[in-house]
Amino acid sequence: MPFKNISACVFDAYGTLLDLNSASMRCHDELGDKAQPLAELWRAKQLQYTWLRSLMGKHADFREVTESSLDFSMQTLGLDDASLRARLLEFFEVLAPYAEVKPMLEDLRKAGMKTAILSNGSPEMLKNATTSAGIDGLLNMVLSVEEVGVYKPSPKVYQLAVDRLSIPAENICFVSANGWDAAGASAFGFQVAWINRAGQAGERLGFPPKAELKDLSGLAELIS
Ligand code: LAC
Repeated sequence: MPFKNISACVFDAYGTLLDLNSASMRCHDELGDKAQPLAELWRAKQLQYTWLRSLMGKHADFREVTESSLDFSMQTLGLDDASLRARLLEFFEVLAPYAEVKPMLEDLRKAGMKTAILSNGSPEMLKNATTSAGIDGLLNMVLSVEEVGVYKPSPKVYQLAVDRLSIPAENICFVSANGWDAAGASAFGFQVAWINRAGQAGERLGFPPKAELKDLSGLAELIS
């Protein structure tokens, strides 16, 4: 049992609780075989812009980053359609949760665990997402990087969870499907579960997770 003395579980949002592909897939009729390449390029560029802006010291909130990365991706794929752009952004606000999310959060709450989100998303985006996913009532806290004005994996972001929950890092289980976020959280001092949905290779950054899971369904049992 690698996890010890956990009293709170803190989740990444995008890709971990919320299915990032769901926005492009809801526009599949218009996008056709460009749906998957668009979803992948949009996400990759979105993350690059968070890292680049953090290094440049030029923060812009996640909605702006999401819009500018979509514009880059649509132009790259030869998609020039203002109403498609508007629909994709609208669907990004209400991404579908993965099927196991709700029962997993219920199990954690039953086990007496505190639950929170710590995400790059802006407060308004996270409010829209958690409400539409029907999980807002299952979370003790929803924390946004907007409070510190820099993106993950800055330690300032992970520190926010420690400060706001008033729980030491070593008693927090941080859960992310993003390997680089899992590494950042592990480097910070959290006990980390990496949700490797896509069977990706592990990051070579020197801060491995405590556990690797295929999805969130076994999490509650693993940490409680
Ligand atoms: C988040 C991104 C990293 O929710 O997925 O913070």
